[in-house]
Order: sequence, then C-alpha cells, then structure tokens
Amino acid sequence: MTKFQDRAYLTGQQYSGANNLSARIRLHEQFTVTDVDLHRYLFDLLLAAAGSHAGVLEVGAGRGDLWRKNSDRVPAGWNVTLTDLSDGMLVDNRAYMGELAARFTYQQADAAALPFPDAAFDVVIANYMLYHVPDLPGTVRELRRVLRPGGVLMAATNGHNHMTEMNALAVRAGIIAETEASGLMGVHLVFTLQDGAQTLGAAFDDVARLDYPTHLRVTEAQPLIDYMLSMVDRAAPEKITALRA
Ligand SMILES: C[S@@+](CC[C@H](N)C(=O)[O-])C[C@H]1O[C@@H](n2cnc3c(N)ncnc32)[C@H](O)[C@@H]1O
Repeated sequence: MTKFQDRAYLTGQQYSGANNLSARIRLHEQFTVTDVDLHRYLFDLLLAAAGSHAGVLEVGAGRGDLWRKNSDRVPAGWNVTLTDLSDGMLVDNRAYMGELAARFTYQQADAAALPFPDAAFDVVIANYMLYHVPDLPGTVRELRRVLRPGGVLMAATNGHNHMTEMNALAVRAGIIAETEASGLMGVHLVFTLQDGAQTLGAAFDDVARLDYPTHLRVTEAQPLIDYMLSMVDRAAPEKITALRA
C-alpha cells in the first residue's frame, strides 16, 4: 500500500480540502489540448446511460467538477447523492458548487463500505479515485452491490503513461527513485486504462473501455511546479523548485 491509499493521509493531508486537487485540475484546465471538455464528454455518456429519471451516486466526488461543468443540463428527474471519504473535501465541494449544491444530497462515505442498501442506485460514478482504495476488488464488489441489476458504473481513470514526463522530472530532482515506476503519486500502476476493464470484469458482466485521447502542452513552469508540490512531502519542495533552474 502506498501513502496515496492510506486513509489517514488521504483525509488528514492530501484531501483534507480541495487545494491539492485544485492545483492538479488547474494544470489540466490550462494546458490540455482537446476539442471536447473532459467533464462534458463524461456527462454525455452519463446522460445516454441514465435517461431522464435516475438515482445517481458519486463516490470520491472531490470538488464536484463533473456537476459544475454540466450545471446547465442535470436532468430534473435525477436524484443525486455526492459522497467522499474526506469531510473537508465535501465542505470545499459545497463551497465550489455554490447554489448548485442545493440540488444534491451530501454524505461522507468510504467507497469500500457504502452506507446504502443493495440495489439502491441506477448509476454509480467512481471517477479518478479507484487507485486510492486499498482493497480494489472488494471496493468494486461494493459498487456493484449498491447498483440495481442492469445499472451502470462509470469509472474514469488515467492511462499507465499518465504524466510520464513529469515523473521523469521527479526522478531527475531525486524526489522519486528511477525504479519507482508508479510515479510521483505512487498509484499509476493501479486501476489504469489498460487494466481497469479486467478489474471491473470480476464483478460486472459487461464492461466497455472508452478512450478520451488528450495531451498536455505545458508552456509555463509554475503550474507544473504547483502540480508536483500537491503530491510531495514537505521535504521535497526545494528539490522541485530547483528544477526551475
Ligand atoms: C483525484 S480525486 C477525484 C475527484 C473527482 N472524482 C474528480 O473526478 O474530480 C480523488 C477523490 O477520492 C476521494 N477518495 C479517496 N479514497 C476514497 C475512498 N476510499 N472512498 C471515497 N472517496 C475516496 C478523495 O478524498 C478525493 O476527493
């Protein structure tokens, strides 16, 4: 288990609020080269899967970008519950969401032990979070448990070469060892685009992998430094800022 799967670190430090996540989202928002916004693309898929009336659960909802970016088209017939392991993240989610927060039910919850009955939801969303759970097979079974038969799980994640150049910089700065193939966050080999379908296939009959091809063209140092700082211990910041030279 890496520290990025350690509940105490996740709730007490990394995701005690939205700051670290926001630094990473900023880099993607500023420098992603794509025709379609990621959250608009994901929401198109949800609309197609759920129709106009649905009970929707999001686990590991973070700051709620999926909803903020699609606030103009959340169907009135959707009953949406937003959950996260971190209470602090849920506080920041409400603040970021503003008036939109009134549309949702909020609850603190660990995706590995959800406080909901069997078959409670039509759709479950677990985006960019399954690499944080210590018991991945058990958590996938738990997501399946709260879905009604025929319900749909969306689980977006990164490919195994996600942020490769940044991880190479981290090796150069001596923040991670060259042998640490799991990258700066230490999770890039867990629940990836390449192995995700197989992992989900243990609990779901019908799994489809859909690719959202995109890349980053980063032209400023500071946002990249902020991104790296969002993932390192207090000991490493000087090493990262030294990279600027
Ligand atoms: C990388 S963020 C992704 C946030 C959001 N899903 C998104 O796509 O922007 C990961 C989130 O998962 C949450 N998380 C981590 N482990 C969790 C767990 N076991 N159960 C529920 N949430 C968890 C973190 O607190 C954090 O908000």
